[in-house]
This record gives sequence, structure tokens and C-alpha cells, in this order.
Amino acid sequence: MSSDSVTTGTAETAPDHVVAGVDVGDADLAALLRARLVEVEELLVSRLETGEDFLTEVALHLVTAGGKRFRPVVTLLTGELGPEPDRERLVKAAVVCEMIHLATLYHDDVMDEAAVRRGVESANSRWDNSTAILAGDFLFAHSSMLLADLGPAAVQLIAQTFAELVTGQMRETVGPGDGGDAAGHYLRVIWEKTGSLIAAAAQFGGEYSGASDEQIQSLRRLGDAVGIAFQIADDIIDIASPSSDSGKTPGTDLREGVHTLPMIYALEAGSTDGDRLRELLGQPLTDDSEVHEALDLLRASEGMRRARATLEQYVADAMAELDVLPAGPANEALRRLVRFTVDRVS
Ligand code: IPE
Ligand code: IPE
Ligand code: MG
Ligand code: MG
Repeated sequence: MSSDSVTTGTAETAPDHVVAGVDVGDADLAALLRARLVEVEELLVSRLETGEDFLTEVALHLVTAGGKRFRPVVTLLTGELGPEPDRERLVKAAVVCEMIHLATLYHDDVMDEAAVRRGVESANSRWDNSTAILAGDFLFAHSSMLLADLGPAAVQLIAQTFAELVTGQMRETVGPGDGGDAAGHYLRVIWEKTGSLIAAAAQFGGEYSGASDEQIQSLRRLGDAVGIAFQIADDIIDIASPSSDSGKTPGTDLREGVHTLPMIYALEAGSTDGDRLRELLGQPLTDDSEVHEALDLLRASEGMRRARATLEQYVADAMAELDVLPAGPANEALRRLVRFTVDRVS
């Protein structure tokens, strides 16, 4: 999907139900969310505009390029599940989560040597690696300033989350080791690098809407499952979707030699996927024609079919949490958000 305009594309989609590309199923909730997302956007931009022009330009580069604002939507929606949404805190927490996410995007594109992000040139490609790294640090600094307003518990939550994000990125680089459990390693990495922040976004929703401790735990589990599903979907998109849909370059994982779930399953003993695919997955690919060949084989692979099945298991886990969380329009909207996350790969 293009990063700034996403449509669910179903005949029943009512435009007044759509927020950030997702049909949330309720016009009043959609209006409220849209209004809060405007506040998120204003706060995000106004904070990043306060420094020197040369930093503002780089830090706003990816903000203005688009993006789904998935983590802010998670905080705002989970914040409507509790009895007393604290609007100001929810908006601040949503901005914190997007800033942290942005910081990881700047840094991730340096690590992955990615040229395109959110449909535009990545910061490392437009400027250079040092500039992109400093922009990520600047975003992290600004998220800390907002966190200070939210208090020590929020600072603690994000500090913990950031440590998990970094651990996941490094664990991905370290790899599972020879003979290690590749699928188990992958699932741990994606929880750390993606699930942890989405779980924190959901936890903020609970904390700032007066949810009970039990509900906050359930929200965290919801975020864990959604986050893992989200990253499996992203990894399938890297194989299955054109750049015009994803706003990124397909095959980045193949070029980086990162084994994602469809590849891990294709390489497992007993897999029906053929020797040619195994051979191609044996090393990072530099040749464009080999990348295309591997992408074609992966799209039709048993590994891909199994990865889609695993994705559905995490969706089921997320839905099971929603079964025990308070019913109502926000709950229904979260179900639709989860479905949407997965449907973008089908
Ligand atoms: C991309 O996240 C990085 C992952 C964790 C997969 P998003 O898919 O949320 O990217 P934007 O924010 O919409 O650009
Ligand atoms: C997600 O991993 C990294 C972050 C959490 C930023 P990827 O490397 O798969 O993400 P994309 O595909 O570049 O967005
Ligand atoms: Mg990347
Ligand atoms: Mg990466």
C-alpha cells in the first residue's frame, strides 16, 4: 500500500468510517480519532520544528513523506476502551510512540542500506548515514522531552522498550547461530524490534484511560500479538508487494541476507521448496536477476504458505484478547485494525 493513502477497497467501506486508511466501522469514533490524529500531527511537527533549520529539515523528511501512523492509532484506539480517556496524555503518548518509531526507521535504513522509505528517498540516501543517525537521535531526544511530561512510569516504559528494540535489531544481525532454532530466533527478534513498541502503544492506551491492571496486561498481550503479526506481514510484503504499494524496495531482506519467516520455513528440513531456492537463500543477493528469481520462487513457495498460516495464528491471539476486553465501537475498530494489518498481504 502507498504509505500515505490506504484504502480498504471493499464495497461496504463508508468514507466517513475511514481513519488513516482503516475502516473503523463507526462514524462517531472515526470523527473523534481523526480529530485526535490532527492533534498528534500538530504536536509532532511543532516539536520537531523547534531546533535548527538543518535538523528540522532532516527530522521532518520522513514525517511529511507519509506513513500509516499505526502506533498512534493503536494508542488512541486502546485509549477509548477504558472508562476515562485522558485526551492530552493519550495524544502525547501517541506522539512519543511515533517519534520512537521514526527514530528506528532512520536508523534501520542505515543498517539495511535502504534507498527508499515512505515512498521517498531514505535520509541516508538523500543525505548520508551520519545525518540519518543524528536525525534518529534527535527524534529520540524529543520523545524523551515529551515523556518527561508524562512522568517516570512512562519514561521507564519507553526506556525498557527502546532497549528491547535495540536488542532485537542486534539479535537480528547476530543471527540464530549454526543449527540454532531459526524460526524461534526470528519470532523473538520481531517481538523485540516491532512488537515491543506496539505493546507499549497499547499499554499507554490502557494507562491513560483508567483501565484496570488486568486489562492493561491484556492490552500488552494484544500489542505483542498485533506487533508480531504486523512484522510477519511486513516481511511478506518485502517479498510479495511492488514498491508502488509498500513505499519501500522489495527484496531488501534478500539483499541484506536477512532470513524472514517464509525463507526460514523454505529452508527447514522436510520443506517441499526446491534446491534452487535454498541455493539462492544461502547468501546475501547482489545480482538483480537473482533477487527477482528468488522473489518469484518465494511467492509460490510452501514457506510463504506456512508464514501466512503463522500470521493467522497471531491474529487469532489478538482477537482472543479483544474477546475479554470491553466491548463497543473501540473494540470493533481494533478488530478491524488487526484484520487490516493482515489483509494488506493477501
Ligand atoms: C515499518 O513500519 C517498520 C516495521 C516495523 C515493519 P510501518 O509499516 O508502520 O511504517 P510506516 O510508519 O507506515 O512508514
Ligand atoms: C523493522 O524491520 C525495523 C524497525 C523496527 C524499524 P525491517 O527492516 O523489516 O523494516 P522495513 O521493512 O525496513 O520497514
Ligand atoms: Mg529495514
Ligand atoms: Mg531491518
